[in-house]
Order: sequence, then structure tokens, then C-alpha cells
Amino acid sequence: MASTITLSVQPRGKPIRKLPKELQIASDASGHELYNALAQQSGCSIHRLRVTKGSDGSLVSNTKTTTVHDTGLRDQSVVYVKDLGPQLGWRTVYIVEYFGPLVIPALFLYVLRPYVYFNFDKPLPQPSDVQALICALLTLHFIKRELETIFVHRFSLATMPARNIVKNSAHYWILAGVNIAYWVFRPDAAAATDNLNPALLYSGLALFVFGELANLNTHLVLRNLRKPGSTERGIPSGFGFGLVTCPNYLFEIVAWLGIYLVTGLSWSVLLFTIVGGAQMASWAAKKERRYRKEFGDKYKRKKFVMLPGIF
Ligand SMILES: NC(=O)c1ccc[n+]([C@@H]2O[C@H](COP(=O)([O-])OP(=O)(O)OC[C@H]3O[C@@H](n4cnc5c(N)ncnc54)[C@H](OP(=O)(O)O)[C@@H]3O)[C@@H](O)[C@H]2O)c1
Repeated sequence: MASTITLSVQPRGKPIRKLPKELQIASDASGHELYNALAQQSGCSIHRLRVTKGSDGSLVSNTKTTTVHDTGLRDQSVVYVKDLGPQLGWRTVYIVEYFGPLVIPALFLYVLRPYVYFNFDKPLPQPSDVQALICALLTLHFIKRELETIFVHRFSLATMPARNIVKNSAHYWILAGVNIAYWVFRPDAAAATDNLNPALLYSGLALFVFGELANLNTHLVLRNLRKPGSTERGIPSGFGFGLVTCPNYLFEIVAWLGIYLVTGLSWSVLLFTIVGGAQMASWAAKKERRYRKEFGDKYKRKKFVMLPGIF
């Protein structure tokens, strides 16, 4: 039978003004109800709070599926409550991140061309067909990312610290936006020709189309593992999931390799692909560890997390 327990509440990090010293809560209340009660009593937004157990420092999840009792909290247990600072919705952050590399290619290739390439002999040559094609591929890639952010992904966390938006946006606006657009759209770039090696052009296009469609399919599989509004996780299966833990990252890299070929092997695209690939590789390794821990024997362990036969 459910009983009411008293938790000893202590702040972690900077003080939270109205944080209660104790909290009475039913042992069968959910993690979400615990967060809600702390948010109401402290007057702090629920999204800013992070609750950990005093006994071992592990996170008490803000979910509706785990009860206070399930987390191991008992009468007189200590919980630490941390104020994570101002938060922004994940969707907002992603929309802002992708907006830069969505508009920068067309701005550099057409609108800002005379200013960006001011130091080249005048008159500047018109953008080549290959450059116009690359601009379309880059724009399409990031429109797809925006649409998936709004309509496909079901995120488990509602928010992230507001300051992350600067760091994350810099990665996309500078490395995917300015870096690629500047080098690939230069009047003397390999792509400034209408006679790009057809082998590069067509194999690049094929990789891009395949990578984008397969990546979208993976995102749809992940979406269907979670009911709307919930944070549950499932074991994904389907195209690519037998090969690696995170086929969405694999196909993302395939699409960028396609762009790399169409640009006539621009190092700027390779640089972004390697930096993004390294980040995704570290997330994929973490994801494999998480699946093994969360699903135990039900999960078929993967030998490779992102690149079949390599990593
Ligand atoms: N080019 C680059 O530098 C670069 C870098 C990173 C990402 N990307 C692109 O951005 C895409 C999204 O990245 P991401 O890191 O957010 O991918 P992700 O971790 O695979 O997550 C994609 C979505 O699926 C959910 N999800 C993941 N695994 C799940 C599971 N087992 N059960 C239920 N839902 C699950 C995630 O929710 P949660 O909120 O729970 O995670 C999230 O909403 C990538 O696939 C890639 O195309 C590009």
C-alpha cells in the first residue's frame, strides 16, 4: 500500500530561494509529480530543476512511468536539487541551429557574392551550374532537418540550457554554413566549372539521395518507438539497425560524402563531415552502452556503433 514519505531536500550549486527543506510525497507518486511538487514549492520552472539522490548521486528522472519508490527513495532519504539556469526548448534550439546553414549558401552564392568575393577580378563570373546544384543540396538538407525537428522527432527532454544555443549554433552556422559556402562558391573553386567529372557528380548525387532518404527512414523508425508526449525508449529495428547502433548517423555521413564528391572534393565539406562525424561517433558509443544497460538480454549487442566494419 502506498505511504507518504518525507524527503530531506538540499540545494546543489547556487541556492534556490524558496526551496523547501523537506517534501512530503506519496511513495507511489511519479518522478514527474516529485519534480512538479518541488517546482511549485520553490517557484522555479520545472524545466530548470535537476534532482539527484543523496545516497549515490544518481538522477531521479522526471518521468511519469517511474515512481518515487522505484527510484530507491525512502522516508528521510536526501535529494539534491540543482537549478540548471535559463532553459530553451530543444525544438527552438535546433530550429535556430539549422537556420544559418539553410540560408547562408544562397546568400553567399547570389545576394552577398560581390561583397564576399570583393578581392577577385571584376566582373565576377556567374555561379556555375554545379555551384547552383550544391547550393540546392545544402538548402534541401537543412530544410529536411528543420521539418524533421518540427514534425518527426519526439524528444525526451523538453529543454536544454539556453547558453548551449551559442555553442551549437556556432558549429552549424560557421562550419556548415560560412566555411562550406565560402570555399565551394569561390570563383576559383573546383565547383566553379560546368564540367565536373561525371563520375564524381553522379556518384555524389546518388549517395546524397540515398543518405537523405535512409536517414529520414531511420528518424521515422525512432519516432514510432515513442508515443506522443512520452519519453519511453524502445529497441529500434529496421533498415540499417542490424548493421550499427545509430544508422541515422551512418546515413547522415553518407549524404555528406555525396556532397563532398559533388563539390569536387572540397576540404571544407570534408572538415565539417569529420567534425560532425566525431561528435556523432561519441554519441553512438554512448547510445550502445545505454541500450545494453537499459534492455539487457533483450537487446542484441552491436559490434559497430556507426560505421560498419570500422567503428
Ligand atoms: N552533421 C552533423 O554534424 C550532425 C550531428 C548530429 C546530428 N545530426 C543529424 O541530426 C539527427 C538527429 O540527431 P540526434 O543526435 O538527436 O539523434 P538521436 O539521438 O538518434 O535522436 C533522434 C530522435 O529520436 C529519439 N530517439 C532516439 N533513440 C530512441 C529510442 N531508442 N527510442 C525512442 N526514441 C528515440 C530521440 O529522442 P531523445 O530526446 O530521447 O534523444 C530524438 O528525438 C541525426 O540523425 C543526424 O541526421 C547531424
